Amino acid sequence: MEQNRGTWGSNIGFLLAAIGSAVGLGNIWGFPYKMGKSGGFTFLLVYLLLAVFVGFVIMMGELAMGRKTGKGTIGAYHTLSKKFKWVGWLAVFSPFVIMSFYSVLGAYCIEYLALNLSNLAFAGAEVMTGADLFVAMLTNPFGAWVFTVLFMVICYLINRGGVSGGIEKFNNVGMPALFVMLVIIIIRSLTLPGAVEGLKFMFVPGYAVEAGFIEEAPKFLTVLATAGGQMFFSLSLAMGAMITYGSYLKKEENLIKNSAIIVVADTIVATMAGLAVIPAAVATYGPSATLSGPKLLFITLQDVFHSMGAIGPLFGVIFYLLVLIAAISSAISLIEVISTYFMDRAAEKGKQGNRPKIVFWVCIAIMVEASIVAIDGLGANGFWVPFQNLFQSIGLSETGIIGEFNDCWLDFMDFLSEGLAMPLGALLMSLMVGWEIKPKTLLDEIHQGGSSKLDLFFSICIKYIVPLGMILILVGQIDTFLYLGIF
Ligand code: PHE
Repeated sequence: MEQNRGTWGSNIGFLLAAIGSAVGLGNIWGFPYKMGKSGGFTFLLVYLLLAVFVGFVIMMGELAMGRKTGKGTIGAYHTLSKKFKWVGWLAVFSPFVIMSFYSVLGAYCIEYLALNLSNLAFAGAEVMTGADLFVAMLTNPFGAWVFTVLFMVICYLINRGGVSGGIEKFNNVGMPALFVMLVIIIIRSLTLPGAVEGLKFMFVPGYAVEAGFIEEAPKFLTVLATAGGQMFFSLSLAMGAMITYGSYLKKEENLIKNSAIIVVADTIVATMAGLAVIPAAVATYGPSATLSGPKLLFITLQDVFHSMGAIGPLFGVIFYLLVLIAAISSAISLIEVISTYFMDRAAEKGKQGNRPKIVFWVCIAIMVEASIVAIDGLGANGFWVPFQNLFQSIGLSETGIIGEFNDCWLDFMDFLSEGLAMPLGALLMSLMVGWEIKPKTLLDEIHQGGSSKLDLFFSICIKYIVPLGMILILVGQIDTFLYLGIF
């Protein structure tokens, strides 16, 4: 019996949801810094080339896989392939692991939002420095846990409403709001005295080394791997998210155009996020500012807002709300990957899945693993130490395999998902499409609602360029995460 899976209410609703999935923490704290560190425009150029020849192609492929089969990730791989059907599991495992830390980072955003709101309400009261606040937050595991629960409750309420009734509705309001808030922060950031140094850091090749932001310029292969890893994470690829969102897309929609819009919009927002955060941080701190990761968001920028005087907390509220929306819109796409699998499974048995119940249990399962990351507090509470010792006892740390980078649960989970599962998943996907089921299978799907002008481009990229790029990215990711020193 065919069940009614539902579809997006409109193509623009789908686009906003897909852009919402793509625009996330990766855009705000990953892209700007990596761009500055890796030579500004050089990085941007490498990133754009990868986005066109790899990202755009996989985006089209994933949307086509979902829409062709009308199923979520696991179902799609099962329907399309004999040899690669297990890859679907990998692409459900990764979102689950990513959610273990994405939810905690979302929780930190709620805490900072609340904090800035209270600073706004009680103007003039004594406030702590960003660094002190951050430590206070990390070493309060119960607080972090409670806010992680709150973040998951918000996601639950959205996902239980379904694709058009929950996810689409949230993004229809959230994405335009995010954009407006981003513009406000950019204006403030660029009008601070000294902001031009930040712009130079981002856009002038070699400036990061010259002005003392970093010691030496990264090698080309490192830049390639960094840009590739960033692009994958940022475009939500190889995570089942786009297969899942594509499976709810109507046949008449144009997959080529939609893929291009998502890639372009995500890159524009990443560059805009750079303009919002880097000049402000550099104007306040100079080359010694921490310009990436959780420290950028929760220490550097908090201090930047504080240094703005009475008006600061207002910008703080706008900024942390913006980041929170970006985190929610990505998290709900990850939750949907897992929930859709269970919904599809019920449909296969001829039943209509109970969405609220399925989403509830998915969120509970995520909460269990997220508790470990929340309580660990980025390693501040020593939860990772036993595992560090375990790795050391089998000699891994001495060979540099588990280096100092993996000193907390968040990094470990990030390594498993972003470092390993994502590039591996994309490599296997391209091998499946290029060599087993053949590009034509997906091109037939893409032609419904789209032209056939890109057929040759799609086939060549998916058969040769993507696998080659993925191998490089995979090796590069393992190299940086594990300090192997290959590149
Ligand atoms: N693209 C999101 C970001 O930039 C993260 C994400 C990855 C979301 C994979 C969904 C799927 O932060």
